[in-house]
Amino acid sequence: MDKLLSKDLLGIRNLSVEEIKLIFDTADKFKEVLNRPIKKVPSLRHLTIANVFFENSTRTKLSFELAQKRLSADIINFSSSVSSVKKGESLLDTINNILVMKVDMIVMRHPNPGAPHFVAKNIDASVVNAGDGTHEHPTQALLDSYTIREKLGKIKNKKIAIIGDIAHSRVAISNIYALQKLGAKVMLCGPSTLIPKYISSMGVQIENNIENALKWCDVANVLRIQLERQKNKFFPSLREYSLYYGINKKLLEKINKDIVIMHPGPINRGVELNSDVADSNNSIILDQVENGVAIRMAVMYLLSLNKV
Ligand code: CP
Repeated sequence: MDKLLSKDLLGIRNLSVEEIKLIFDTADKFKEVLNRPIKKVPSLRHLTIANVFFENSTRTKLSFELAQKRLSADIINFSSSVSSVKKGESLLDTINNILVMKVDMIVMRHPNPGAPHFVAKNIDASVVNAGDGTHEHPTQALLDSYTIREKLGKIKNKKIAIIGDIAHSRVAISNIYALQKLGAKVMLCGPSTLIPKYISSMGVQIENNIENALKWCDVANVLRIQLERQKNKFFPSLREYSLYYGINKKLLEKINKDIVIMHPGPINRGVELNSDVADSNNSIILDQVENGVAIRMAVMYLLSLNKV
């Protein structure tokens, strides 16, 4: 296989194992480029890409932008807060107005699940989902799995615990799909109120006790409490959440096991992770961010091949 099957990357759910491996192999080559003195290749110099963000982002937006620049693409950035969306323009009108200026690819983040799927169905250009509400965040899951493979040598049969606010997390859903396709065992850990009932049908183990989850896993992927997506109270206070589910050095010493610590960011230090863990030698949080550029270069490069 040397191409992705779809014109878009909307989620991990419909990606095959072979496609994920192709993205990883391509990312390996781009990672090598990123470690050269001149960190740039002309692969996408013929393309113009629009980054269309209807929701806040630091890592994903900068990572896509840098990946596009490293591939020599022309880029434009759209932010809904300062756009004519505020004047009532529809999503599709906005996208079509961007495309008519000879834009070839859309990278899109939107608070509504399915928004990039709707756009992808209605345009010929490729769409990359940079996170749609609580649904999927495919490039985050790809860079997470890629970083686990880099750290542990393989993913098959490794035990990954995803800890925290599963109910409001697109990262959790995309990670479950990616890790299971690559042969990992996945456990979800958090208070019952933050673990949706349907999710056990995805073949994951559920655990409410953080010590049990940490004793079980090789890797703990710790998620942020997504207060901006919570309409109700799911636990009494952040202080209490931190007391029962926060990971600190003392807890890891009690477990007495070498566990790899991951976090997609942004971290709420002192809530889900203490600095003595986030900044420890066990943490690969900044490796995740670094690898995100190579993964996104690979995704956009491979999608561009479908247009030639
Ligand atoms: N991991 C992630 O999606 O971070 P941002 O929201 O900063 O893009």
